[in-house]
Amino acid sequence: MDRQTIRIAPEDIARQGEFCEKIHERLASLPAQPLAFVDTYGCQQNEADSERIRGYLGSMGYGFTDSEEDADVIVINTCAIREHAEDRVLGNVGALVHAKRRHPGQIICLCGCMAQEPQVAEKIRQSYRHVDLLFGPHALWKFPELLYRVLTRRGRVFENTDEPGSIAEGIPVVRQNGVKAWVSIMYGCNNFCSYCIVPYVRGRERSRKPEDVLAEVEELARAGYRDITLLGQNVNSYGKDLGLDMDFADLLEAVNAIPGDFLIRFMTSHPKDASQKLFETMARCEKVAPVFHLPFQAGSDRVLKAMNRVYDRAGYLDKVRRLREQVPDVVITSDVIVGFPGETTEEFEETLSLIEEVRFDALFTFIYSPRAGTPAAGMDDPMPAAEKHANFDRLVAAQNAISAEKHAAYVGKTLRCLVDAAGDDPRYPLAARTPGNRLVRLADGAADLVGTYQNVEITGANTWSLFGKLAPAGTRGK
Ligand code: SAH
Ligand code: SF4
Ligand code: F3S
Repeated sequence: MDRQTIRIAPEDIARQGEFCEKIHERLASLPAQPLAFVDTYGCQQNEADSERIRGYLGSMGYGFTDSEEDADVIVINTCAIREHAEDRVLGNVGALVHAKRRHPGQIICLCGCMAQEPQVAEKIRQSYRHVDLLFGPHALWKFPELLYRVLTRRGRVFENTDEPGSIAEGIPVVRQNGVKAWVSIMYGCNNFCSYCIVPYVRGRERSRKPEDVLAEVEELARAGYRDITLLGQNVNSYGKDLGLDMDFADLLEAVNAIPGDFLIRFMTSHPKDASQKLFETMARCEKVAPVFHLPFQAGSDRVLKAMNRVYDRAGYLDKVRRLREQVPDVVITSDVIVGFPGETTEEFEETLSLIEEVRFDALFTFIYSPRAGTPAAGMDDPMPAAEKHANFDRLVAAQNAISAEKHAAYVGKTLRCLVDAAGDDPRYPLAARTPGNRLVRLADGAADLVGTYQNVEITGANTWSLFGKLAPAGTRGK
């Protein structure tokens, strides 16, 4: 058992409930229900955290709005993964000074991964004086107490001390979507890839207890959720800190045994821990969606070593081969970084050849962004930005062609898809997802189908999505 993991005691969470209650009493005297706006950047982990922030705000008596102007409380849940993400947040936070001028008494909170970075906190303290409350991911569980301090003392509150990380159960949740849900199974990361800020802002790996995860999934299944994603920075190392005889594959099997008509997804997997046992478990578990997000980051062994990824190209390709052997139609997606310090164009070409070899269904491509405090930020980086961009464009063009070909192969097939949202274009009133999570834009169907599984005939495709129509009743989808 990792002695550094702090499990927040139930009585401490109950105390946060009391702070919600106290805030509720203060708000009850207002002429109209006060409103909160929660703005989320970054990954699903942050989406999941925002659902807890909304849960707390709901218990305090706040209603919700998407308008900065109308909000009495604005919470900006930030991401630190790349400089661009941070710049966007700082730009938007800067602009809030105007909203606050028009809305005296408005409270502005900044939380999430950026808030955990000491230099960001300092910048907010000095130059963004309209921000009332700043707290990092480690302090999220005590948000009610922090907000209460702001409301009662009229002073600014900063709470972002560095710690290895904690686990808090029992925080209320307001989910954004009634069809798909995120369930965090673990927090933090121990991998310290040399370019990455996550271990510094999210702390060390720590797993929720299996009974807590299973109870949450059971509740979601009972409530009719159709698509449940198990979340962690590296789900494959689930349980290593618990000292139980249960790894991620065992957890997946236990989730699969929960009754209900839902699909299970998970992300993200580090290739070093993606095991044969996991592939075999996926193949056996009917609820586990045939999709695997397996970031490879670079195609060159020298670059992988400099990134501290601890696998090599051959090892990665071998995992993909074994995964496909177990789950033949599996959709495989990945992340890749172009322009890591010292990566030459010849080494970049090994990334290109890797994607041609694997033929991913989709790829998330990023240009390397130096993050203060990470080892890569101190490495020599002689390649001009223009050359990195040219390589990036070549990679995107190559992947777009592969994605289009892969999508074209769906045309004519009928698949059982989850209708998960209204469409964003009148020609396509509904959006659905294949079991492998490919987007299908549906040309027919009414809004009451959202949240149901339908057999869908795929009629067209491009690089980014599939097009389809509802199959006549009685047609069997795969
Ligand atoms: N835990 C996940 C990734 C989380 S971050 C994993 O290990 O796979 C999501 C992606 O952002 C990473 O896979 C990586 O491709 C990219 N990324 C992380 N740090 C980056 C940086 N400094 N510059 C550019 N891309 C980065
Ligand atoms: Fe970052 Fe690597 Fe951890 Fe993923 S595994 S969060 S890339 S350090
Ligand atoms: Fe960003 Fe934090 Fe997620 S840095 S990618 S929001 S863990």
